[in-house]
Amino acid sequence: MRIDVISAVPKILISPLGESIIKRAQNKGLAEIHLHDLKDYAAGKYRHVDDKPFGGGAGMVLKPEPVFKCLDKLLFERRYDEVIYLTPQGTKFNQRKANRLSMMKNIILLCGHYKGLDQRVIDKYVTHEVSIGDYVLTGGETAAMVVIDAVIRLIPGVLGDSESALTDSFQTEAGFDAPVYTRPAVYEGMEVPKVLVNGNHKDIEKWRAEEGTKKYRRVKRVKRKT
Ligand code: ADE
Repeated sequence: MRIDVISAVPKILISPLGESIIKRAQNKGLAEIHLHDLKDYAAGKYRHVDDKPFGGGAGMVLKPEPVFKCLDKLLFERRYDEVIYLTPQGTKFNQRKANRLSMMKNIILLCGHYKGLDQRVIDKYVTHEVSIGDYVLTGGETAAMVVIDAVIRLIPGVLGDSESALTDSFQTEAGFDAPVYTRPAVYEGMEVPKVLVNGNHKDIEKWRAEEGTKKYRRVKRVKRKT
């Protein structure tokens, strides 16, 4: 899978993309992530990528020209399944969307910064507007990182068997994973549930399903079906 990220401050992404499982996915050739700096597409001596909003108001708006140029270049080079604009005004990102995106070949993540992005970019190129939650970040870069992380770990081969995504929270009907423990079996007087230590796989599976469901209900305040 190839992900192109367009941003005015792509450096924000360099460190998290170079660590752990996401780094491993790239090294294995399972994911290719390309960062594009809007300043490289901006005109003039100062390479401004933003300007004041028409009609007044606070904040700066990303100018259309550098974004058009960057998108035109990428779209000329290959076909993209989706052009996603990260914005708090988008539809909420969730595990289902992560699953769907993980099956795509090429996607573009467009990060807004400052006050927002000239609407003409959205009108011409954007296929989906996506929010990672009901709060406002300083820019779309951290949101793009969340999407990249959630998507890449789902690509077949990225996680080893022991890290399998199939038993993740939200991937099962019950909703959440059961609590997990590791050694020591007693720590500061707190014991690991006996069922996990006893080694009966049927009992463990049942306990895990029940605990996952219980936690899901507690956190999401879902009423038990009668
Ligand atoms: N940009 C700023 N806030 C955001 C959010 N909550 N989700 C996605 N992109 C954003």
